[in-house]
Amino acid sequence: MSEMFFASQQGRVIPKEDKIFGINNRAKAMIAREGKDKVVNATLGALLDDKGDLIVLSSVTDVFRNLEPKEFAEYAPIAGIPAFREAVKEDCFRSYKPEGFVEVVAAPGGTGAIKNVVANYADRGEKILFADWFWAPYKTIAEEMGKGFETFEFFNDERKFNVASLEEKITKLLAVQDKLVVIINTPAHNPTGYAVTREDWAGIREVFERVPKDKKIILLVDTAYIDFAGDEDEYRFYLPILEQLPENVLTLIAHSLSKAYTLYGMRCGATVCIAKTQEIADEFRKVCEFSSRSTWSNCNRAPQVILSKIYADPELKAKVYEERKQHRDMLIARAKAFEAAAAECGLVTVPFDTGFFVSIPCTNADEVCGRLEEEGIFLIPLAKGIRVSIASVPEDICRMLPARIKAAMDK
Ligand SMILES: Cc1ncc(COP(=O)(O)O)c(C=O)c1O
Repeated sequence: MSEMFFASQQGRVIPKEDKIFGINNRAKAMIAREGKDKVVNATLGALLDDKGDLIVLSSVTDVFRNLEPKEFAEYAPIAGIPAFREAVKEDCFRSYKPEGFVEVVAAPGGTGAIKNVVANYADRGEKILFADWFWAPYKTIAEEMGKGFETFEFFNDERKFNVASLEEKITKLLAVQDKLVVIINTPAHNPTGYAVTREDWAGIREVFERVPKDKKIILLVDTAYIDFAGDEDEYRFYLPILEQLPENVLTLIAHSLSKAYTLYGMRCGATVCIAKTQEIADEFRKVCEFSSRSTWSNCNRAPQVILSKIYADPELKAKVYEERKQHRDMLIARAKAFEAAAAECGLVTVPFDTGFFVSIPCTNADEVCGRLEEEGIFLIPLAKGIRVSIASVPEDICRMLPARIKAAMDK
């Protein structure tokens, strides 16, 4: 948008429409025109069943339906109701017992959790750092608050996590600023499906150890998809590593209930801090509460009560985990089908573990996605490639898509 009528531009670049929702709208329009069976809509980051309907955990819905009016009507404290804040710790850490000082502040989804971190740990004019395959709102959040961003190359030529690029960018940015927010989205990374490995974490730790002691790193691990990656404890293997990072690194986690509890629209999550001292944890809570008060004030109470109830009742908790596991297994089967078909037709994907998305490197993604749209296949073109949401299409479509994408790229 080049010109504002009344609104203030504030240096922001505001597009006419959200790209993903725009493409999704075109897919919907084509479905209305030509029928559901003529269209593949692999655009959105929500888990759909094989008929294309949103999957909602019935165990979570049951708790929701049985809430007392007071449980959702009342204001929640700004940092979240105490039982929720305890439940988030369990949900975030599972069997791991952190040694550091843990603090939790509620947020409206992972998005709010990320926003509170960028609001409080980066100064205006400073840049934050994330991978070049990234979730677009990282950029929007930074720009909205007058902060810049820089990306590091996620993968090197050997298709491995690019520790050298991470270090190069950290060094560059810390030459001109005293602290740096680094966002790492793992596991089931959006948009690639990558999971940072033990080896990668060892490399990241070495990089952080080389950061001058008078500079600070705020590491934000975005775990929006963690419970859709695989075994929930195994995929939390990196938690102890986070606690071994040097003194000048503060570890924060953006925790979200959107996917794990199919509470996307309820807007619930939290920022979790694992600090080396009580003072740092207290400061975290204080600044996050201050920012919350000036934006969403307190958060939606209903999902906080829902999570509290799930963690207060072992049987219910087991039911939720089991129900989620069934859907996760379905998602993993889709991923395997896509991977096998890609290997068969020679379609190269970005390194992938599992998750809602697979990405394909492509220098003319807009053009290729345009061609696919004509065939009724709706995908998301990104700066570095094409994102396919395997979360929103059935297994047989996952098996069919790679060859179609390859053909459109080869045209
Ligand atoms: C990478 C990533 N981080 C965080 C989120 C946060 O989502 P929400 O604010 O809905 O919890 C999402 C959701 O799509 C995401 O893809």
